Amino acid sequence: MSTDRRVTGQVPGRSQAGPYPLGGLADGFVGRGAESFGKVAVLMGGSSAEREISLMSGNGVLAALLSQGVDAQAFDPAQRDLGELKREGFERVFIALHGRHGEDGTVQGALELLGIPYTGSGVMASAIAMDKTMTKRVWLASRLPTPRFVLLDADDQARERLRAVPDDLGLPLIVKPPREGSSIGITKVAGYSDIAAAVQLAARYDPDVLCEEFIQGDEVTCPVLGAGPSATALPVVLINAPEGKYDYQHKYFTDDTSYLCPSGLPSDEEREIQRIVVAAYRALGCRGWGRADLMIRATDRKPFLLEMNTSPGMTGHSLVPMSARAAGLSYEALCLYLLSTASLDSGLPPAGPQA
Ligand SMILES: Nc1ncnc2c1ncn2[C@@H]1O[C@H](COP(=O)(O)OP(=O)(O)O)[C@@H](O)[C@H]1O
Ligand SMILES: [Mg+2]
Repeated sequence: MSTDRRVTGQVPGRSQAGPYPLGGLADGFVGRGAESFGKVAVLMGGSSAEREISLMSGNGVLAALLSQGVDAQAFDPAQRDLGELKREGFERVFIALHGRHGEDGTVQGALELLGIPYTGSGVMASAIAMDKTMTKRVWLASRLPTPRFVLLDADDQARERLRAVPDDLGLPLIVKPPREGSSIGITKVAGYSDIAAAVQLAARYDPDVLCEEFIQGDEVTCPVLGAGPSATALPVVLINAPEGKYDYQHKYFTDDTSYLCPSGLPSDEEREIQRIVVAAYRALGCRGWGRADLMIRATDRKPFLLEMNTSPGMTGHSLVPMSARAAGLSYEALCLYLLSTASLDSGLPPAGPQA
């Protein structure tokens, strides 16, 4: 993980963060007795491609909760059966897992069956958000802006069929596996001759391959906290990455990407991005927290939604904590807030005999 995520100072006349309209979101948990959370498990590690990042997120969250007096312990589902959560009397779970079997609705479903409230989105929103194509379909149905796309199943991936894709989407275009994260398997395709290799690479991670119109412009990300009508966007983070560096290595292990929060975008642009991101979050039925990635088209400054992350990175250098800090919410307060929103799709834990 890069340790050099530079947060710039404020830019005069541009979007400024704080005091920030968190709309009372932070009330109700500050000063609350940490013991009222009961015995808490921080789920971290797991078996996805993002295991290492998850361990960093989880250890950060665990240290923050312990520092606030919460009775929290680490729990790695790659090493222990989830059923132990119930047997050992855990009352709440903080999900710090990323990717498959952590962010995709499966762990959420298991916790629903166990009746243990967990942080973040429920089963359906997690499952939809894990699949970029399904997410785009929901957004398009809600008239939210997302790049035009073509989904290629195994038959469509035959070489002679691929020529139709740039005819449809133009060049350059982006090729990605729809159910991966951390920029794994993503290629920017510049010409007809490159598309076959890009599709082959993405197909190593997912049988279906998503091709998207390339949006040239600024890249931003924007977190959301809360649920339903009280969902609130945090300040936008502007990402300055070297052109064409979408790979995992650059995202997490190099220092040549910088992050600006406050973003320095004109206030009306910042507000419009926040409006779209909250609508995108609500359209998917997310709760607790999330972080949307977007591109702003250089030609007309129109924002396009790329994806919604429902269990974003939570290391001290991650983007949600960075944005929360700009809104006046410390890392510890953010962790406590998220824990306070732990819930179940089914409402209260089921009554009846305990397992
Ligand atoms: N349609 C697109 N146009 C321009 N850049 C894109 C596009 N899709 C993805 N990217 C670039 O690739 C990165 C990763 O894509 P994203 O869809 O966010 O997947 P993930 O973060 O899950 O790997 C983005 O942050 C952006 O830099
Ligand atoms: Mg992304």
